[in-house]
Amino acid sequence: MTGKIALIPGDGIGPEIVAEAKKVLDTVAKKYGHEFEYETLLMGGCSIDAYGEPLTEESLEKAKASDAVLLGAVGGNVGNSRWYQVAPNLRPEAGLLKIRKGLGLFANIRPAKLFSQLKDACPLKPEIIGDGFDIVMMRELTGGVYFGEHKTEEIDGIRKSTDIMAYDENEIKRIAVKAFEVARKRGKNVTSVDKANVLDTSRLWRAVVDEVAKDYPDVTVKHMLVDNCAMQLVMNPRQFDVILTENMFGDILSDEASMITGSIGMLSSASLGAGKLGLYEPSHGSAPDIAGKGIANPIATILSAAMLLRYSFDLDEEAKAVETAVEEVLKAGYRTIDIMSEGMTQVGTVSMGDLIAEKI
Ligand code: NAI
Ligand code: MG
Repeated sequence: MTGKIALIPGDGIGPEIVAEAKKVLDTVAKKYGHEFEYETLLMGGCSIDAYGEPLTEESLEKAKASDAVLLGAVGGNVGNSRWYQVAPNLRPEAGLLKIRKGLGLFANIRPAKLFSQLKDACPLKPEIIGDGFDIVMMRELTGGVYFGEHKTEEIDGIRKSTDIMAYDENEIKRIAVKAFEVARKRGKNVTSVDKANVLDTSRLWRAVVDEVAKDYPDVTVKHMLVDNCAMQLVMNPRQFDVILTENMFGDILSDEASMITGSIGMLSSASLGAGKLGLYEPSHGSAPDIAGKGIANPIATILSAAMLLRYSFDLDEEAKAVETAVEEVLKAGYRTIDIMSEGMTQVGTVSMGDLIAEKI
């Protein structure tokens, strides 16, 4: 097949890790006889430097015209970077919101998998971890409080802020359908997370999820309150297969889920819309503290490229080949600094990319 991939390396370690993911995609193309065409676009701080805004309309249009987008990370040192001395809608991360909205990406899929080779990195007790866990977080990405009305006013000398959380049934239905589709190909188990004891949006969420569930009799569904879910994730993470939740709850829970795997440098993500076009990126940020040192872990981005092959190009065998190569390299004892432990061989960003490409 032929595919058009927009590469958005971004800031910080972004360019370093995207280069390794591209190396892996090139290897897949060569081995399986595909042709990937790349276009590199600017987003984040590097786009602010070049054009004065985090994502230009032209770049957004080019992303829309591609089959898939592979992103590194955007943003810099929030405390002391010139990129943050401007209005919120001109800061690096505004590019992220703009591209998600612009591409209509309403479903964020983040696997939280504890690799058996990295059990030592997991902060949970061995009896809780068991043989490891493999959870997929499905977070609604373009609705809820992040996209509701925000305002701050002063009434009788008292400052007051309002953020509105809203969902309509169609927004809930489309993400629920994606979650059940993903669950059907995995453990056939959806846990829908809400705050239905307090929020109307959550009561609607629950009702719509139950309606969608009727079309998936092979998948079991359970509802859980978000505070309980936060607790269950550290008490008994193995009970979960697919966790389905709204935007803000998903933001928080996916960070929690990623941390119990012990390694932010390993976690991939996909953001999908109604069609095949998706945005693929590691779960971590631009890591300004280690940028330019050649030590960043490229695996999260490489696994994101595997998701790209699976969800945008339907190349399941190729995606599995990448995932297997990553496991093999870990099995052989190679580690970047963030996942390094005693007796293992420490390698840098480029070597890790080379090793994975070689295994493919
Ligand atoms: P971060 O994820 O960039 O870094 C947190 C810690 O993890 C740092 O110590 C970093 O060195 C380490 N780390 C992250 N990725 C790594 C990798 N691949 N290999 C080895 N170590 C890694 O989060 P932080 O520091 O809160 O944010 C830095 C910047 O990134 C900020 O400007 C933030 O807004 C932005 N950010 C961007 C995201 C995106 O582009 N989607 C997501 C999260 C943060
Ligand atoms: Mg977050």
